[in-house]
Amino acid sequence: PMKRLNIPAVRARKGGEPLVMLTAYTVRMAQLLDPHCDLLLVGDSLGQVIYGLPSTVPVSLEMMCAHGAAVVRGSYHAAVVVDMPFGSYEGSKKQAFASAARIMKETGAVAVKLEGGEAMAETIAFLSARGIPVMAHVGLTPQAVNVLGGYGARGRSEAEEKKLIGDARAVAEAGCFAIVVEGVIESIADAITEAVACPTIGIGASARCDGQVLVTEDMLGLFERTPRFVKRYAAMADLVTDAAATYADEVRARRFPTADQTYRRAAAGAAPKTG
Ligand code: KIV
Ligand code: NA
Repeated sequence: PMKRLNIPAVRARKGGEPLVMLTAYTVRMAQLLDPHCDLLLVGDSLGQVIYGLPSTVPVSLEMMCAHGAAVVRGSYHAAVVVDMPFGSYEGSKKQAFASAARIMKETGAVAVKLEGGEAMAETIAFLSARGIPVMAHVGLTPQAVNVLGGYGARGRSEAEEKKLIGDARAVAEAGCFAIVVEGVIESIADAITEAVACPTIGIGASARCDGQVLVTEDMLGLFERTPRFVKRYAAMADLVTDAAATYADEVRARRFPTADQTYRRAAAGAAPKTG
């Protein structure tokens, strides 16, 4: 099999062929997405998508490690990046190192992602200098929902625009290998992409970012409502609903299982069948 994409190779894609990233939380989804993706992100969005939590704030390091290990087991081509959950890295550089090292040891992922701009620059430099590649995440940072007050796009004022570009420059200079730019005005995403030497990966940002990411379940149409920046490439909710309804009908009508799905004794004299 092909070698896994490594971090210098991701960094080298600045200004080149767009980086393709999707989220994955489970082994089978990782297997299906892996051949098509440069990067798989074990996002803390699993809090809402898998666990039904109200935000990413309650997500634990244990959850990220368990799902990260599953995604690494299900992939061999993409670089796997695991989100550091809220509360596991903001306290100090030492706390961040301990949490990130645990993620890498327990999952086999090649990098971590953390949210924040200038305030996280020192931490990014600390981790990078100690063998942990860091993907930064600026703009709309969902772990800060309680400070931001919602999930609206950032950069609507000039002050906000200056702050966003400053944040991106700070994390890039600190040595992150890529930056997720989420939920910002398109022209600001473009300014950030031009301002930094590492690839930007957009979500609700701009087609001119160096790559794109979406939450897989959003992209597959698993949810009734999706934000403006999501494009649905499938109608998975309809598929699941139709399959469950057909199954229920057949069970109630005793049309499932049929002879194809049941076991019986071989007829006398017949060759023994396996399977
Ligand atoms: O948690 C997540 O899925 C993310 C991406 C949307 C960038 O951080
Ligand atoms: Na995230």
